Amino acid sequence: MIEVCVVGELNLDLILYGLPKDLPAGRELLASGLAFTLGSSSAIFAHNLRVLGTQVGFISKIGGDPLGKMAVERLSTVGVDISQVRQGTSKTSTGLTVVLPHDQDRYMLTYPGTMFEMQYSDIDMDYVRGARHLHLSSFFLNRALRPRIPDLFRQAKEAGLTTSLDTNDDPEDRWGQDLHEVLKYVDVFFPNEREAKKIARTTDLSQAMDLLAGLSKIVVVKRGSGSAICRMGDEQWSLAPPDVNLVDDVGAGDTFNAGFIYLYLRRAKLEDCLAFANIAAAYSVTKEGGTEAFRDRSGLFSFMRQQWNTTGRGALPLKD
Ligand SMILES: Nc1ncnc2c1ncn2[C@@H]1O[C@H](COP(=O)(O)OP(=O)(O)O)[C@@H](O)[C@H]1O
Ligand SMILES: [Mg+2]
Repeated sequence: MIEVCVVGELNLDLILYGLPKDLPAGRELLASGLAFTLGSSSAIFAHNLRVLGTQVGFISKIGGDPLGKMAVERLSTVGVDISQVRQGTSKTSTGLTVVLPHDQDRYMLTYPGTMFEMQYSDIDMDYVRGARHLHLSSFFLNRALRPRIPDLFRQAKEAGLTTSLDTNDDPEDRWGQDLHEVLKYVDVFFPNEREAKKIARTTDLSQAMDLLAGLSKIVVVKRGSGSAICRMGDEQWSLAPPDVNLVDDVGAGDTFNAGFIYLYLRRAKLEDCLAFANIAAAYSVTKEGGTEAFRDRSGLFSFMRQQWNTTGRGALPLKD
């Protein structure tokens, strides 16, 4: 039985650490470290939610190349149902993101590949309706699906599912109004601070929260190592993540979403969902990429138990 159905893109991240400060063309530039790991917002969400203990099914499209197979394998190893991952018939290969951490920031170079090609007709709506919850990440990268995303969410709501959405960045920086059409059918909306302001077309976060609170049922804004904010109607909660040794914040937002939805589906209080999400996300930044920390389940659970205890919220809601 699938609890959460994730619709979205699936690819690997190739991360090169420790590149020189200057990147002149024509030179052989050496990195000091390499990670080849499961990437893409949707897949990181699915992987980490499954590791927490939720049954997850993944709907996606890959190419006929080895990278697609490797990405699928990473999901199936932790028990995500990959029966709905289809291999495209075109020559397009699976997408790939090359991440180049650089100074305090990073370059992210993405070849979208099949993530631009998945369409509504690739989705088995009966499979979606069989879940309790629908999540979609990367609204702007699911290019062929985008016009039908409102329809997908409307049907999920009609079938009684709860829903969540994380747009992530808009590479075109347009933040189209079609997003508002989807938000009508979204229970939990997960932008980060920058995205929240862009979507609301303001530079003021509280103004953005006011506007977004009127568009979806719940809005949760992520703010890196700062306090994340959860708003429903007139109620608002704000909680800082634990202090950790930051290695790599790739996928922190997706892991946050996974933590939040894990407890949300167990009908926890929103404040507890926020606390749990912060702890899960903080652990994810202690290792490379978006899923490496979550491959060490016992390390994850012991970190979560220790941090949860400090919040005085009773027993950790995770099953060993
Ligand atoms: N340096 C950090 N220390 C602790 N937690 C962090 C840190 N960076 C991110 N997080 C956690 O990850 C969440 C999402 O991070 P953020 O970077 O804001 O989102 P996104 O990845 O979508 O840009 C934060 O709300 C927080 O819970
Ligand atoms: Mg994000």
